[in-house]
Amino acid sequence: MHTPVLLQQAIEGLRLNSQGFYIDATVGEGGHVSEMLKKQTRILAIDADSEQVKRLKNRFGHDKNLILEVGNFSEIEHIAKKQGFFPVDGVLFDLGLSMRQLKEGHRGFSYKELDDPLDMRIDANTLLTAEEILSQKSEKELSEIFSKNAEEIFSERIAHAIATARRKKGITTVGELVSIVQSAHKGINRSTVARIFQALRIEVNDEITNLKKGLQGALSIIKKPGGRIVVISFHSLEDRVVKLFARQHHMNMSTMKPKTKGAKAGFERSATLRIISC
Ligand SMILES: C[S@@+](CC[C@H](N)C(=O)[O-])C[C@H]1O[C@@H](n2cnc3c(N)ncnc32)[C@H](O)[C@@H]1O
Repeated sequence: MHTPVLLQQAIEGLRLNSQGFYIDATVGEGGHVSEMLKKQTRILAIDADSEQVKRLKNRFGHDKNLILEVGNFSEIEHIAKKQGFFPVDGVLFDLGLSMRQLKEGHRGFSYKELDDPLDMRIDANTLLTAEEILSQKSEKELSEIFSKNAEEIFSERIAHAIATARRKKGITTVGELVSIVQSAHKGINRSTVARIFQALRIEVNDEITNLKKGLQGALSIIKKPGGRIVVISFHSLEDRVVKLFARQHHMNMSTMKPKTKGAKAGFERSATLRIISC
């Protein structure tokens, strides 16, 4: 079960009213949407992962206020207009992956699930898997992926280790990639491995391009003035896109971070909530 990060703050940021139309662009396991439904608003909920949407249809299928759609939020304008959600009062983006995708997805998202295949596609129709990227991209291209998507200082060494290893045998599992990354330099620790997995996932799913398109699409369907775009991001690359978007369009933006204590806080620590007033 996914524990939504910054749940109440995101809901308050959307300023839900019972006459309004809202979009949850990343419905995931339904944590945010079930809270939104309590306010009796009309909601269009989207996710690129058809398995997530299928599960939610079983859970919420009866709710007349909720429409569930499989789709990429890069297409949000098209999906919203098709469903009559135009103009909308608020759009929520809770970026990244849900706990179920990470722990039970068996798609290689987590560097801890050593036997999983290196797939990493959120949407099963995405062109290239992580395994295919690792086998098809040149050493230089791999190094660029790691430095661009993860600002990883060992990018060149890791790309070289991958290029050397794949000459002997294809890299097909999480465990194989983890060992190769760790072998690239003695200074490499678990956080380097986590960053390399994140960089590959961003590449496989074209996450930065999709986020830019998603924000632009949200802006084209949101009520002006007064609509809200709320974004929860988990790394600086995404957050930078959100900040730049608000600045370029001269929109007010407020920011919140979770109040977390000690090591227990886990991945929540890296979350940033941005509320953009349109
Ligand atoms: C952090 S989870 C959302 C969790 C959700 N807020 C909840 O409370 O359960 C992020 C979700 O976004 C979805 N996702 C990621 N990129 C997407 C995209 N480009 N378009 C649509 N959904 C996307 C993932 O499949 C995942 O289910």
